[in-house]
Amino acid sequence: MCGIIACAGVRRASEILYKGLCDLEYRGYDSAGISVKRGGEIVTVKRAGRVSAIECARRLGGSAGIGHTRWATHGRPSDENAHPHCRGGFSVVHNGIIENYAVLKEELIAEGDEFISQTDSEVVVHLLAKYYRGDLKEAVLRTVARLKGAFALCILHEDFEGFVAVKYRNPVIVGCGNGCFAASDMPALSGIAARVAVLKDGQIAFACEGGFTFCDFEGNAASLTFSPLPPQARSGGTAGFPHYMIKEINEIPAAIRQTAAAFETEGCARAFAKLRRKKFSQVMLCGCGTAYHAALAAAYAGEELIGVPVRAETAGEYRYRRRGSLAGTLFAAVSQSGETADTVEAARTAKAAGALVAAVTNVPYSALTSVADIVVPVRAGAEICVAATKSYCGQCAALGLMFSALAGGRHYRQAKRALGEAEGMCAGAISHCAVEDVARACASASAVYFIGRGADYPAALEGSLKLKEVSYVPGEGFPAGELKHGPIALIDGGTLTVAVITDPALAEKTASAVEQVCARGGRAAVVCAEGCEPEGLRERAEFFITVPRSALFPAIISAIPLQLIAYRTAVILGRDPDKPRNLAKSVTVE
Ligand code: G6P
Repeated sequence: MCGIIACAGVRRASEILYKGLCDLEYRGYDSAGISVKRGGEIVTVKRAGRVSAIECARRLGGSAGIGHTRWATHGRPSDENAHPHCRGGFSVVHNGIIENYAVLKEELIAEGDEFISQTDSEVVVHLLAKYYRGDLKEAVLRTVARLKGAFALCILHEDFEGFVAVKYRNPVIVGCGNGCFAASDMPALSGIAARVAVLKDGQIAFACEGGFTFCDFEGNAASLTFSPLPPQARSGGTAGFPHYMIKEINEIPAAIRQTAAAFETEGCARAFAKLRRKKFSQVMLCGCGTAYHAALAAAYAGEELIGVPVRAETAGEYRYRRRGSLAGTLFAAVSQSGETADTVEAARTAKAAGALVAAVTNVPYSALTSVADIVVPVRAGAEICVAATKSYCGQCAALGLMFSALAGGRHYRQAKRALGEAEGMCAGAISHCAVEDVARACASASAVYFIGRGADYPAALEGSLKLKEVSYVPGEGFPAGELKHGPIALIDGGTLTVAVITDPALAEKTASAVEQVCARGGRAAVVCAEGCEPEGLRERAEFFITVPRSALFPAIISAIPLQLIAYRTAVILGRDPDKPRNLAKSVTVE
């Protein structure tokens, strides 16, 4: 995904845009660019690389402007493929994907247009230039009518003093304060906009010094209600920590507390009362990456609690599988951002097949919430590091509360208590887990494998994903029982295997997998919950980390040493854990 921002009616547009792009950089960091309006002229600076590559653009000034930070989809990261794209007095930034760009490009080339970039986005500026006959609104309406796919756009024109913002399937938040603003998310508006509103699909905002006017894609006037920027939308910077990743790990106890508190609101209680009255025959959980792992972890306890089948699947697979009616199914889509295209589309597909759709998300104004029938709140606060940490724990908490609320009042009260205890355990684990030696072993390993049984298997998958994402050390997560059926061929003295053990009933079984690793000369580390320690394992494993035991929320606690190991390994190897190569925080293309 990409980040877009715009401002109008301000004194130094370039400063505002540059700062906003720094806040949006988690959305992509392949290239960056800014266009500003100075008098009747548009001045553009864009470069491949991170936002800092256009530091010089801060001095452009201007009264209005647009900016972009890119995660490359069509065309490699380069100066030409960087946004904004300019033509015929227009300058445009785009987040999303123009699915019919090839057909449009062919048509425009046949009419004599020349293209500078390999991007899908460039067709937008060509269409605007083609349709502009002195009426900006008409040009925008005719352009959006030709586009298929997903697009959040910000547009400048040399004859218009402000900017235009367009929303279709990718987010645009508009804000006002000392000027008019638009951005892909709320944290980028904090400090500049006092009041904000979320554009709906198919809406267009025209911003100038006098304020906003809105219309739909047919040109009919629309109105939006602005409300104060919510406090949780402020990221607050790294607050003295060297990286967002470690700051956000330290915020896990708060994420759990706030998520539990959100379940106590009247709206949430009403939604769950409604859910309890329905009799579901199955629950389907879907998500991508870390969100999928939270879903998988929750499925184990969920099935036990509500006594109907609970399955978890990656959204990208689920949406293309053929299925019959989903009447009687609760479909819970899990997504930190609420923007991930595969997850949003899976939710749409499930809804069309008759499922009741719940959005389990950290972003209450996201695309996912607009598709869903009910929202299951995650309140981890703004998460800036590309690798998810506190949002994973928030998702595990929210899903645990969701299943216990479905199971009934007694179960819910028990889960609330257990979550309160888990919050304290997390704080303890963050300050006491000694991971440095394991991180050094990871940094020098040829590969790191993570194993676990039962609910510790998703924990192992997540431990492995975290390490890969931020340190680029190769590895995999396996069910501990599968190790001997193939993966054990990978074990040699250069590999490290990390075993997760939090269930006393399965501890001995996972311990034998550790024995098998040691017997083949592999190095082994164990993350073990108190009271689950199989006899003699501490002596056999090279590294042993003990964490407190939470019977209901084991994945939240074991995540802490695993996240800390990934973080320290990345730092030891000199990687930037907040912005790993090739990644973006959520992927809004399929
Ligand atoms: C990307 C990120 C992952 C994240 C996944 C799902 O692939 O790199 O860290 O877990 O998207 O994001 P979501 O916002 O849907 O939870």
